[in-house]
Amino acid sequence: MSSLSEFAAYKRLPGVLAGAGGSRLDWQSGQGMLDLYGGHCVNSLGAGNESVAEALASQWKRLSFTTNLIQHAGRDDFLQAWAPLMPPGDWQVFASNSGAEANENLLKWALMATERKVVVCFEGAFHGRTAAASAVSDGKETFPATPFEVRRLPWGCTDGIDADVAAVILEPIQSMGGVVDPPGGFLAELRAQCTENGAWLLFDEIQTGVGRLGQVWASQVFGVVPDGFSTAKGVAGGVPMGLSFVESSQASRIPDGVTGATFGGNPLSLAGAKVVAAHLAQPEFLAHVRELSQIFRSLIGVGPVVGIRGRGLLLGLELHDSVSASHVSQALLEAGIMVGTCRDPQVLRVSPALNLASESVAQLGDALAGIGRME
Ligand SMILES: Cc1ncc(COP(=O)(O)O)c(C=O)c1O
Repeated sequence: MSSLSEFAAYKRLPGVLAGAGGSRLDWQSGQGMLDLYGGHCVNSLGAGNESVAEALASQWKRLSFTTNLIQHAGRDDFLQAWAPLMPPGDWQVFASNSGAEANENLLKWALMATERKVVVCFEGAFHGRTAAASAVSDGKETFPATPFEVRRLPWGCTDGIDADVAAVILEPIQSMGGVVDPPGGFLAELRAQCTENGAWLLFDEIQTGVGRLGQVWASQVFGVVPDGFSTAKGVAGGVPMGLSFVESSQASRIPDGVTGATFGGNPLSLAGAKVVAAHLAQPEFLAHVRELSQIFRSLIGVGPVVGIRGRGLLLGLELHDSVSASHVSQALLEAGIMVGTCRDPQVLRVSPALNLASESVAQLGDALAGIGRME
């Protein structure tokens, strides 16, 4: 006799999901639910997006998989689709499978290129669960030992960047930490310090990238260009993919033979990412993200919401201190709306599909008004 059960890494919501379409979740019970969490930012174009479905099906039939040793048209198509969306500079990209892997590659490259041993990171950060990514995260996921020396600074602090530092890594807006915006001038000062000390400035754009802030990248929103950045989550419309971008002059310093991934840049993820790029290239698509963001801001003062943090569709709803985020998210679930929580117990995270219908915000507003405050 043998058996198999799932390792209990996640505490699941009650119920079983039967399917999903766009920003709607369909439960086996027959209940429909508005999804304002977007599968942790993965469903950038909503669930089951038709253009992604067609691209994946046709790619699979034409060429389902091939080794990274072989060239095929999908690689050039992907590069051509993303090139016009890049921040200023000459960039190179390496494709892997997840956000953590994309960050691992950035950190490895910076440590090897600079031949230094220290990485600066920030309190409240989350960069993933693998060895290097968890070393620069601020949580219980860290391994017993870190693969390099870590210098963790308070958010907003720019002290401690010196000639021993290989890289400074941060999320331009901290998501898991509570949707925490960068203080004014913080990113520009980090840029200046990194340039002065020869350290790489690395942006983790795994949540902030791919149009989520209303421009393609946070570096464009904040006007600060890093030496390297990562993205993942919604970049391929729901297909697993991680991308590490590095500025070409820094890329030339990375030793040969230290980078690779069997499934990295597989034809399906390249095809999904090409569809996402085509959406981002339409000005009205990003304009919709910015407009929707403004509509969400009208929720300040509705029910328990006292403020809104973040940009675009990476928003943190700050709650009145008489109610907790876990209480409000539970009440919203009961009202048929899914939102996220984060490490700040007073903040709800909203990260819906970028093409969410505007009317959905009113639905959230009605539900929040029904919850009210506990005074
Ligand atoms: C900012 C940030 N970085 C890195 C990661 C890790 O990505 P993945 O779970 O794809 O490894 C996440 C995932 O939530 C994230 O939000």
